[in-house]
Amino acid sequence: MNALKEYAARVEKALKAKVEGMEGVPPLLQEAMAYSLMAGGKRLRPVMLLAAVDMLGGDSGDAMDPACAVEMIHTSSLIHDDLPGMDDDVLRRGRPTNHVVYGEGQAILAGDGLLNWAGEILARDALAHPGQLENRVRAMEEILRGAGPQGMMGGQCLDLSCQQENRGGEKELMEIQLGKTCRMFIHPLRAAGWLAGAGEAEREALGRYGEAFGRMFQTADDLLDVEGSQAELGKSVGKDAQEGKLTAVAVYGLEGARKMVRDQMELALAALEEFGQQGAFFRELVLSMKGRKS
Ligand code: IPE
Ligand code: IPE
Ligand code: MG
Ligand code: MG
Ligand code: MG
Repeated sequence: MNALKEYAARVEKALKAKVEGMEGVPPLLQEAMAYSLMAGGKRLRPVMLLAAVDMLGGDSGDAMDPACAVEMIHTSSLIHDDLPGMDDDVLRRGRPTNHVVYGEGQAILAGDGLLNWAGEILARDALAHPGQLENRVRAMEEILRGAGPQGMMGGQCLDLSCQQENRGGEKELMEIQLGKTCRMFIHPLRAAGWLAGAGEAEREALGRYGEAFGRMFQTADDLLDVEGSQAELGKSVGKDAQEGKLTAVAVYGLEGARKMVRDQMELALAALEEFGQQGAFFRELVLSMKGRKS
């Protein structure tokens, strides 16, 4: 998808400038943060934020700081997700995981560093737009809430406790997906609505799209852990079953999980009706996720 590649290249460039422009940071911390942030990654969440701003008639060039903040938060969640106390993974984005290279303590700090830095960037972005202060702060609130205890962190907590206590079924799976994955799509998309000055009906439709897209995406991720290749994914495979994770495959089986991907795809497409022709990018994005290998 060309538009996806173009947005991702813009994000890449902006992230690089941010990392290189960091000042007053111990070189080791700077290196560890950059190691994971600049390791590739699909950049889906910031790309979707920028594309939503454009779809709603806003200026995506003026939304790059919130977009970068979203990718920093996402990367911080990956560094922490891979830690021995969580999923205990040694490969991410085609490289040894952060803690394998820098040690657990430094990896925790690299994740915290990216998370906190994202908050600083969001606050400075709001201050730099006095004429849109309220909308920019609302965008910041969405992004931070989506990542926080009511969002991604809450989902990660449930993911871990269901694994550790060997419990849970469909209800828990739904909550885990919504928290750990969907909210990192829903809220950056809703933030785009605030940045573009859209109304609640549009933010709501974007949120519905984000939830369905997130469920489709996480279910496909669960399938890839069974059927994917380590070389293409850039992360280890076969770990979910080995660790006893409550995944869509564990709950529904392979066929059931494939059906869930298809069903959520339909729901994501239906949510786009709100945007008519303007929704083309997001429609294509859903379809491009069919049969993704990485
Ligand atoms: C991985 O996210 C975590 C999940 C929610 C499954 P991505 O698959 O978007 O990872 P990167 O950013 O491309 O590495
Ligand atoms: C990760 O889910 C979700 C977050 C990082 C918030 P997974 O644990 O399935 O992601 P991968 O497979 O390690 O990328
Ligand atoms: Mg995990
Ligand atoms: Mg994991
Ligand atoms: Mg996974």
